[in-house]
Amino acid sequence: MQLLTLVLIALLPATSLARSPNHLSRQYHGSKHHNVPRDTKYKLQTKHQGQNFFDDWYFYTENDPTHGNVKYESRENARDLAYVQSDGTAVLKVDNKGHVPPGGKRRSVRITSKETYNSGLFIADFWHLASGPTLWPAFWSGNDWPNNGEIDIVEYVNTGKVNQYTLHTGTGGECKLDPNVSARYRNKDGSQPKSYLGNTLGLQCKSSNGHNAGCAVDDFNGSAGRPFNMAGGGVFVMLWDNTQLTFWRFERNHIPQDIQDGNPDPETWGIPVAYWSDKSCDIAKAFRDHSIIINISICGDWAGAAYNNEHHPTSCSDAVANATNYDSAQIKINHISIYQKA
Ligand SMILES: *[C@@H]1O[C@H](CO)[C@@H](O)[C@H](O)[C@H]1NC(C)=O
Ligand SMILES: *[C@@H]1O[C@H](CO)[C@@H](O)[C@H](O)[C@H]1NC(C)=O
Ligand SMILES: *[C@@H]1O[C@H](CO)[C@@H](O)[C@H](O)[C@H]1NC(C)=O
Ligand SMILES: *[C@@H]1O[C@H](CO)[C@@H](O)[C@H](O)[C@H]1NC(C)=O
Repeated sequence: MQLLTLVLIALLPATSLARSPNHLSRQYHGSKHHNVPRDTKYKLQTKHQGQNFFDDWYFYTENDPTHGNVKYESRENARDLAYVQSDGTAVLKVDNKGHVPPGGKRRSVRITSKETYNSGLFIADFWHLASGPTLWPAFWSGNDWPNNGEIDIVEYVNTGKVNQYTLHTGTGGECKLDPNVSARYRNKDGSQPKSYLGNTLGLQCKSSNGHNAGCAVDDFNGSAGRPFNMAGGGVFVMLWDNTQLTFWRFERNHIPQDIQDGNPDPETWGIPVAYWSDKSCDIAKAFRDHSIIINISICGDWAGAAYNNEHHPTSCSDAVANATNYDSAQIKINHISIYQKA
């Protein structure tokens, strides 16, 4: 970070630290009043938003390790697939125009943040998530899979409507999901019925080739795909420190005021949708030096198997030829903000 930036951090309130102007964010329009300032619990580290959105990411151009029918394009070759709209929305999409033969590879994008993390409060505001047959969109963090772990914050396949939060760990430390761990967060009325609200899938986070389910929690119907998009999108939050990996999701109309004000306070958000505690997971050892990654894959290990199970007239990799499948294959981002404990 440059000295000037450091000086600015010292002088300005967190909300001014956007890498690009806040006025580009539709979310800020119309919020005329501000609550009385309270202690800052988290300070903004980085905000990816607006016209400079793609400056802080690498474009990955290798083959898809999950065997998708996808060709990841460089920044230069992806001007039509990764761009910023005039209203400041960053768009990542799959090509829905080009001719692709059955079994071929369709153009898409996968971006990796230049900055890496060992903790943080990650707030990602999406207007739209890629949805449609054969698709496998993901917003996740990782480094050198599976050795330094992988955290899937947004992931689902095809026309799915349920988001899945998943941890994958490698050699780095024991990690399990304990659905019976004591609750850490309370509702506003003091109630604390559960440690998390989502539906428990696997408990064993350790993953390797061929055993890659990880430990996972399903969100509710409508947390992804078409219903999520119809509701104007929403906000996914991950709080990662040495004692927890905690996930909340907020619908567009229920984004907490403290998030909108750039002064987030997880203690006020109630029971999370998914929660891993350090009592059953060595978080500090299992997850290290993660980049944030956003990719839209097609078919491949998960989406391909799921599509082929649905008994379509063609196989998943042949359906890649049908460009109409990709008319909703866009991830539209308002902002991705990373805070650190103040
Ligand atoms: C796309 O994202 C998913 C996230 O779970 C990951 O497993 C997969 O390897 C990614 N594809 C590529 C090419 O990295
Ligand atoms: C959680 O508690 C339930 C009820 O006591 C028990 O049946 C279950 O085995 C426990 N799960 C784990 C992973 O410990
Ligand atoms: C999920 O929600 C959609 C509407 O958002 C509804 O049409 C569908 O029936 C629901 N599915 C289940 C399994 O509840
Ligand atoms: C192409 O995809 C669209 C949208 O998914 C679908 O409605 C249509 O039936 C598909 N066409 C063929 C020939 O499979």
